[in-house]
Amino acid sequence: MANARKPFISGNWKMNHNHLDAVQFIQKLYYRLEKDDYEAVEISIHSPFTDIRSLQTIIESDKMKFHIGAQNCHYEPSGAFTGEVSAPMLAKLSVSHVIIGHSERREYFGETDEIVNKKLKAVLGNGMTPILCCGETLEERESGEANSKVEGQIRAGLAGITKEHVASMVIAYEPIWAIGTGATATSADAEEMCLHIRGVVAGVAGNDAAESVRIQYGGSVKPGNIAELMAQPNIDGALVGGASLEADEFAALIQYRNHGR
Ligand code: PGA
Repeated sequence: MANARKPFISGNWKMNHNHLDAVQFIQKLYYRLEKDDYEAVEISIHSPFTDIRSLQTIIESDKMKFHIGAQNCHYEPSGAFTGEVSAPMLAKLSVSHVIIGHSERREYFGETDEIVNKKLKAVLGNGMTPILCCGETLEERESGEANSKVEGQIRAGLAGITKEHVASMVIAYEPIWAIGTGATATSADAEEMCLHIRGVVAGVAGNDAAESVRIQYGGSVKPGNIAELMAQPNIDGALVGGASLEADEFAALIQYRNHGR
């Protein structure tokens, strides 16, 4: 039986596109998509902070059905944290989804599971939905530690978060070796890990939360491989980096269900 979780595709631009590029992109994407695309798939765009205000203006004035996303935030609401952006600041710009704990942030900016947990609470506390990222390195996969690494990230990330909040969240499984490399996990491997994650969520927050939480796969998702990934019962969406930067390619991804027709 098909589950009730609506497919959710998120574009993570990372440190690409200025606000003028962002405006061009969103207009092009909007014209490429059809009404039934929005009915079939939820879409979020995670631009750099400097683009968000421009995207918000155009998305709201043209009533475009895109969720406005961010790639990170600080866990404190305000204060002496030079260079940081807080969750209330994002909420004020109509941001609804915030990526938390991306492997690039963990690796290059020293984000620990404890920091990730604080950030998740800040995002949820400001009425937004976090996209919690997890995933193993190639070394961990090859030494058979992938499941325990991901389980540890999920357990630590979700510590102290209510079942209702867990149920409303998105989790992105992104094997680090597949990010930006062109190597994708096979759909069977990705499904196996997403099923494992759902089991961990059930242990932490109960079966109802596990049934509701949406799990995205991320790592070299492209128009050519998304349909097979989305056909897996425990993969509810995709977190897309490189293939979200160009409107035509991102539109083709969103329209995965038309592939092969
Ligand atoms: P990629 O990035 O699609 O370019 O592999 C995915 C991500 O890092 O979210």
